[in-house]
Amino acid sequence: MTLKNIFFSFLILFFTSGINAQKVSVQKKSLVGNGIAEFIPTGFDKNLTPSLILAQEPVQIGELPGSWKLIPEFIVKEGKAGASLKLTGNISLYGGGEVTGPLLRNGQSIKLWNTDTGAYSVEGGKRLYQSHPWVMGVRDNGTAFGILFDSSWKAELHTNSDEIVFNTEGALFRIYIIDRQSPQEVLMGLAELTGTIKLPARWTLGYHQCRFSYATEQRVREIADTFRTKNIPCDVIWMDIDYMDEYRIFTFDKNQFPNPKKLNKDLHDKGFRAVYMVDPGVKFDENYSVYQSGSKNDIWVKNPDGTDYHGKVWPGYCTFPDFTMPRTRNWWAGLYKDFLATGIDGVWNDMNEPAIFDGDLPENQRLGTMPYDTPHRGGDNLPEGPHLLYHNAYGRLMVEASYKGILNANPDKRPFLLTRANILGGQRYAATWTGDNYASMEHLKLSVPMSITLGLSGQPFNGPDIGGFLGNTSGDLWANWLGFGAFMPFARGHACNGTNNKEPWAYGEAIEKTSKIALERRYRLLPYLYTVFHNTSVTGLPVMCPAFFADTKDPDLRNEEQIFLVGENLLVIPAFANKPTLPSGIWEDISLVDGDTNDAYQAKLKIKGGSIIPVGKIIQNTGENSFDPLTLIICLDEKGKAEGKLYLDDGDGWDYKKDDYSLLTFVAEKQGNDVLIKISDKKGKRNFEKDLNKITAEVIINGKKYKGNGTSKGVIKVRIK
Ligand code: GLC
Repeated sequence: MTLKNIFFSFLILFFTSGINAQKVSVQKKSLVGNGIAEFIPTGFDKNLTPSLILAQEPVQIGELPGSWKLIPEFIVKEGKAGASLKLTGNISLYGGGEVTGPLLRNGQSIKLWNTDTGAYSVEGGKRLYQSHPWVMGVRDNGTAFGILFDSSWKAELHTNSDEIVFNTEGALFRIYIIDRQSPQEVLMGLAELTGTIKLPARWTLGYHQCRFSYATEQRVREIADTFRTKNIPCDVIWMDIDYMDEYRIFTFDKNQFPNPKKLNKDLHDKGFRAVYMVDPGVKFDENYSVYQSGSKNDIWVKNPDGTDYHGKVWPGYCTFPDFTMPRTRNWWAGLYKDFLATGIDGVWNDMNEPAIFDGDLPENQRLGTMPYDTPHRGGDNLPEGPHLLYHNAYGRLMVEASYKGILNANPDKRPFLLTRANILGGQRYAATWTGDNYASMEHLKLSVPMSITLGLSGQPFNGPDIGGFLGNTSGDLWANWLGFGAFMPFARGHACNGTNNKEPWAYGEAIEKTSKIALERRYRLLPYLYTVFHNTSVTGLPVMCPAFFADTKDPDLRNEEQIFLVGENLLVIPAFANKPTLPSGIWEDISLVDGDTNDAYQAKLKIKGGSIIPVGKIIQNTGENSFDPLTLIICLDEKGKAEGKLYLDDGDGWDYKKDDYSLLTFVAEKQGNDVLIKISDKKGKRNFEKDLNKITAEVIINGKKYKGNGTSKGVIKVRIK
């Protein structure tokens, strides 16, 4: 279908609908999964609204049962499609992806138009870098539903307590509604539709240190060496834009980064990985090879008159790849091979809303990006379409191509990619961070519900710029933030240019000690964290969960947004939390590092009754042996029992897909004055005894710790009297 046809179809819609809203009937409704309904409105056309969200086309598995209650209504008004769904009863609403404001989304409105919104200043944070047309509702009885609006058109989402309204500026779209027994099951349903994150390499779960920019090789080495001399754990150093030759992507500044291969090798030798930034804008420079090859392959976004679209970003005037075209994605993927051959371990795709400094600004509606009618050429399953359709998917199509390029360049490794812009479903390709936050207590507190909400919207691998990106950070703010940021799924410190140094040692000795403790705690938790990530990669459940996941029927937990769970068994109570509502039941305090419980900046950590959390030693990077011993932290339930899991594999590569992994279940049971601990189940074919021999068990009862030692081969006995 040509662009002309698309606009013609719009015109027809416009004239048939008139100025008033016209109801549109549902042409097809069916079940496409267990408790998952698909609603297709009459007149829906995949050539007008292709899916950029679903992992695959849903397959009908049956008729919609007559008892199905959640039925959406479609409308078209002035040629623009929308939908609504009436809610009855007392429902707690969540979701919407990357949002500011409260965790509980009743009465909130957001705009879905990916926007570069430093300090979340654009429209009061109602419009951020990503679009997640997704709402989840939890009923009083703990059952839940989710609504996925399968559209990338510019849109607004209103989550009122009695009605969900989704209005787009484009054509009709499909809706998927999941209705299941719990919010966890609903999120698993969301993953059935949109996919899960891939199991990340273990190093990506370490601490990441970033700055805009560590602008010379010398400075990068200094930062890396300081971590090692001070024994502060860290896995990754990030190269922001200044490593490039005048911001030309896929190049290096010859003076400041004369030998990236050597730099990366030296970082590797010290147990670091190196992540480098790649933006979508390609400097308009006829002597630059990437510009030349893009032009030769005819992959640039064009203006409606057929000339190349130009917009200003860091390098000055740029051209932009039209990622809707398969040949552009292949071309882009191919650029990574030589680049990664310098020993680069991961890639950071930024500015991919796309953000354009001199972009269309006139009505504050289109802040800093391409005009709505900029054509995109499409191909394969994607039709030609205007920017209004493809804008929200630009970052997602870019990271699909980047992912492929990274994988092709290093087929034996698990790609690591971080993106700023994305759309629901894009978790399949890239992790994310919450963009340019501010160094303030307000943004520190906001980072908790923001990260939880992303996890409740299909994107579990996320985190904020710890310490705050914009503005100067005080030692107090840094220590508060790292004190709980160390337990967020993606843990990276970052800082804007022109702001103060924001490394763990930048605030004097006392804060350095606090930072070291916070990071040592994260590193001790790695065996648990990796196990949680593994589960997430299989089920789609979040890594960082809201407190109400501990008891989905407890109404008091529904708007608790200061504290969070990591997986199911670890509760994190940040130092700033003021009278948080804690889940009921047995929860014991745990200590992971000497002095952690006496340090006022550290988050309080609690283990859930009935669970076992596997933790490792303090290590400086994930390349070191976490075990020898493995420690099992155990908290019994009312019946004197506990259970927990440990997932192990090579930490990178794909052998785990050939069963070279172990998923061990540990159980503990009180018998008289002893607690007996053993492995009750083993999955996978890995010889885990080569990874794991000595085990220390720590049983915590009423705040008291009882210890016992053993091996992975036998039963471990802990005397508790
Ligand atoms: C954007 C990013 C920020 C980065 C900067 C320079 O503002 O959000 O993280 O440091 O660009 O590349």
